[in-house]
Amino acid sequence: MKLDIIPVKWSDEGVLMLDQRLLPTEEKWLTLRTYEDVAAGIRDMVVRGAPAIGVSAAYGMALGAKNFVGTAVADLEDELDFVGETLAKTRPTAVNLFWAIDRMKATFQKAKAEGKSVSDIKKELLEDAKAIHDEDIEAQRLIAHFGGQLLNDNDTVLTHCNAGALATGGVWGTALGVIRGAVDQGKTIAVVADETRPYLQGARLTAWELMEDDIPVTLITDNMSGHVMKSGKIKAVVVGSDRIAANGDVANKIGTYMVAVLAHRHNIPFYVAAPLSTVDLNCPTGDDIPIEERGREEVTHVKGQQLAPEGVGITNYGFDVTPNELVTAIITEKGVARAPYVYSLKAQFDQ
Ligand code: MRU
Repeated sequence: MKLDIIPVKWSDEGVLMLDQRLLPTEEKWLTLRTYEDVAAGIRDMVVRGAPAIGVSAAYGMALGAKNFVGTAVADLEDELDFVGETLAKTRPTAVNLFWAIDRMKATFQKAKAEGKSVSDIKKELLEDAKAIHDEDIEAQRLIAHFGGQLLNDNDTVLTHCNAGALATGGVWGTALGVIRGAVDQGKTIAVVADETRPYLQGARLTAWELMEDDIPVTLITDNMSGHVMKSGKIKAVVVGSDRIAANGDVANKIGTYMVAVLAHRHNIPFYVAAPLSTVDLNCPTGDDIPIEERGREEVTHVKGQQLAPEGVGITNYGFDVTPNELVTAIITEKGVARAPYVYSLKAQFDQ
């Protein structure tokens, strides 16, 4: 394993993002010099995946502060409110976005209360954005450590979407972190990746990043997963999440619910891996999680090629919610939480 994929970075020029829209055929980095560019990068899926969106939003806040030209702390506060609002409008489901914006605002408030100058506050905001990034990578390392122990030597694991290094601050990933953790512990693991229509994160991103780390991966179309599970080949399903409600209901990429139902039918453990920044205790149940709806072209076209008749009605939900009773365990940086999640998740925050 190379363990070297980091999809978003800070530089003196601005925020660097690996353009995930072009993978796997092109590896191109974009330099985003304003917070508006960062917001567009999140909205247009240059970067995607809940923790990666959170890290990018934190850098977006730091960049907004860096580019602020005034000298009054009150004016910087107004500017940061506006930057936060702009970033918050990009995508609704991944709670890491709102978590990161709120944390950066709290850092501002603390520095303001301490009587710091505009230039010192700018430095603190950048330091905190870098800390958010470092903490995310460390959280994934711990998820890999705890989650890896749940897998056995020679297991074949099914995953959906991309919950890898690309979807996070980098290096391990969440669901793919569990797989990398098991490999790091000396186990041989094979992966079956759902292609994940309509945006094809599984085909384009999961297949690419596992191959980069020499982990055997077999790609299937989404409608093959029932057949593959019935064959007895799959020993565990591991997915990431965009938002986990207080009761353990899990929002993740559209199609995850279908996979969880199939795993239940075939007695296959269904694991969810996510940092605590993805757990939203303010959402009592999955019904409270906003589900993104996306444009029609993703359903009617693939890479610009029209598949469906002109004018056909479509729906394009980006995410679905898997009810907690289908979730075998939730792996976070604090360990392995099991039902009843309303207690076990809360206990992890209190640890
Ligand atoms: O629409 P995306 O690509 O941002 O959706 C990503 C997912 O659903 C991931 O599974 C989730 O964010 C977990 S990432 C560690």
